[in-house]
Amino acid sequence: MSIKIATLNGVATIEIARPEKKNALTVAMYQAFAHALRAAQADNAVRAVLITGQPGIFTSGNDIDDFMSRPPSPGSDVMDSPVFQFMRALLECDKPVIAAVTGAAIGIGTTMLLHCDFVYVSDEARLAMPFVSLGLVPEFASSLLVPQLMGQRGAAEKLLLGEAFTPEQAVDCGIASAVLPAAEVVNHARRIAERFNSLPPGAVRETKQLLRGPQRELTLQTIRSEGELFGKRLRSPEAMEAFQAFFQKRKPDFSKF
Ligand code: COA
Repeated sequence: MSIKIATLNGVATIEIARPEKKNALTVAMYQAFAHALRAAQADNAVRAVLITGQPGIFTSGNDIDDFMSRPPSPGSDVMDSPVFQFMRALLECDKPVIAAVTGAAIGIGTTMLLHCDFVYVSDEARLAMPFVSLGLVPEFASSLLVPQLMGQRGAAEKLLLGEAFTPEQAVDCGIASAVLPAAEVVNHARRIAERFNSLPPGAVRETKQLLRGPQRELTLQTIRSEGELFGKRLRSPEAMEAFQAFFQKRKPDFSKF
């Protein structure tokens, strides 16, 4: 199992653990992730959720082999697929979610941070949302939330050009809460998560609902409309060229499109 789950001292820790593939997320891992979030939500003993990766890598995003071999079938409801079940579970978690970004966070590795309440980033991490370079479009409401955080200019750099950004830039634009030395990021995030043991859980839950509430419907609608385009793009010749180039360890050639 490449998603490890442990609950200790009021904190449910969800650890992405597939280091040999840079923590790329497979369909089975999204299912396990969604299940862990729902279980944490339902468990009264859990006061906060901590999401973490491995030293040097948070996640390299969706497994590109899965993108190639298991795209959603045409006509199926995108919201039924495991990745959208995961997105929904994160969106609907009304307990505080704290991310410890232990290293590179690519694609959904960055977009999931937009839906966490506290984001602590290792000083060795890099963030990127290279959807366009893969022949894809933004997901997880990033086309809505990134311009809100960074403005249209910043969003164009990060989403149209797919430019990587430093932990400091992530803090400056409001994606991350703070940068920590790599060796301290998980412990710091855990200490923040444990602070919720001494706070009243009902007030925490309702405050989170209030903070997220006004945009909730719009966020869901954006996830759905992005998802429909994303599903079509996964089957596009541009995306196929990008995926094949990744595994052949060469630069993609988009000159023929
Ligand atoms: N999907 C599937 N496999 C992946 C992967 C992904 N997203 N990211 C890495 N891997 C695999 C590589 O194919 C390689 O497998 P191999 O050992 O069988 O050849 C292994 O993980 C190690 O990756 P590698 O690229 O050699 O590591 P690196 O340290 O040089 O680079 C990254 C790390 C994360 C920068 C790089 O792997 C990367 O850019 N990954 C793809 C990111 C991406 O575009 N994700 C999709 C976003 S929508």
